[in-house]
Amino acid sequence: MRILSGIQPTGEMHIGNYLGAWKRLVELQTSNECFYMIADLHALTVPQKANELAQATLQKAVELLSIGIDPEHSTLFVQSHVSAHTELAWILNTLTPLGELERMTQFKEKSKKYRANINAGLLDYPVLQAADILLYLPDGVPVGKDQIQHVELTRELAKRFNATYGAIFKEPKALVAKEEEGAKIMSLKDPKKKMSKSDPPDTWIGIFEDEGIIKRKIASATTDSGKDVAYNPAKKPGISNLLTIYSLVAEQPIRAVEKKFQKKGYAPFKKAVAELLISKLRPLRSEKKQLESREVYLREILRQGAKKANAVASRTMEEARRKVGFLQI
Ligand code: AMP
Ligand code: TRP
Repeated sequence: MRILSGIQPTGEMHIGNYLGAWKRLVELQTSNECFYMIADLHALTVPQKANELAQATLQKAVELLSIGIDPEHSTLFVQSHVSAHTELAWILNTLTPLGELERMTQFKEKSKKYRANINAGLLDYPVLQAADILLYLPDGVPVGKDQIQHVELTRELAKRFNATYGAIFKEPKALVAKEEEGAKIMSLKDPKKKMSKSDPPDTWIGIFEDEGIIKRKIASATTDSGKDVAYNPAKKPGISNLLTIYSLVAEQPIRAVEKKFQKKGYAPFKKAVAELLISKLRPLRSEKKQLESREVYLREILRQGAKKANAVASRTMEEARRKVGFLQI
């Protein structure tokens, strides 16, 4: 299959989005043709500092390479390096009813959050995302639940373009991780709530965080009454969350982990969770440190990525221009 996904350049990765989403991007590489894009155009829809954006983009590339995105297998590129994205977005704009964009959950949430900056880009965001996707004619788009709506719109726009101008675009499927496979890691302090970077630091664990800090955060994670290590998200949300984390990191079924720690009590279990996390994340952290000192190499990867992405995108764009009826010279 051909796969495409996009990642915003801002915001550091935590074990929630790593285990829930990004680890899968790494796994998909082995048997698929993958295009992974750092969505810097999308980032502009909320306030950014011009002198920090390039650094954040480079840093995101470092993070993606550190978790195992392999430029030999996948095309890793920066959205603003492929101008076809904005060009196709314009055409798709003319096929998108305003009402559909106004109904998007993300638009409604973000316009509440950024009241002072409800710009047209925020509304148009899903159309740009549709262009990101359609240009590469992918079969699958791995995304989190919050992005399903955008992939549905993408399918809709592919259909509409094909019906209006002639068939070019594929209707890609959203590939969403199943909840029971750990799609959701909860806050360490309030395990009824999703782990999120916008909450205080003791509620989440960054994937490149110091070992001492990981130890401390797991030790102070909220547990539940009783003392059995048992999986029961309704009655024991804290312990269940730690079991989920352990199970995903160790790649063992929850039942097996439960059995292993059932009679051991909370403290030794938490210690084991911390140790496991630390040992699994250590190689990622050292890879990140190494890459951070290799800026020339990083830029070269992104240059190659842009070249490969442009080759595919410009072919699709050429075809789209022709179908739309633009004058050819
Ligand atoms: P975000 O960092 O919230 O923009 O999300 C990036 C990706 O990670 C999306 O696919 C989310 O669904 C996923 N994600 C974010 N937070 C969590 C979490 N606590 N548990 C599992 N997946 C998450
Ligand atoms: N909107 C996505 C997010 O915030 C990022 C993104 C941009 C994306 N373009 C994409 C995801 C194309 C999948 C496909 O997470």
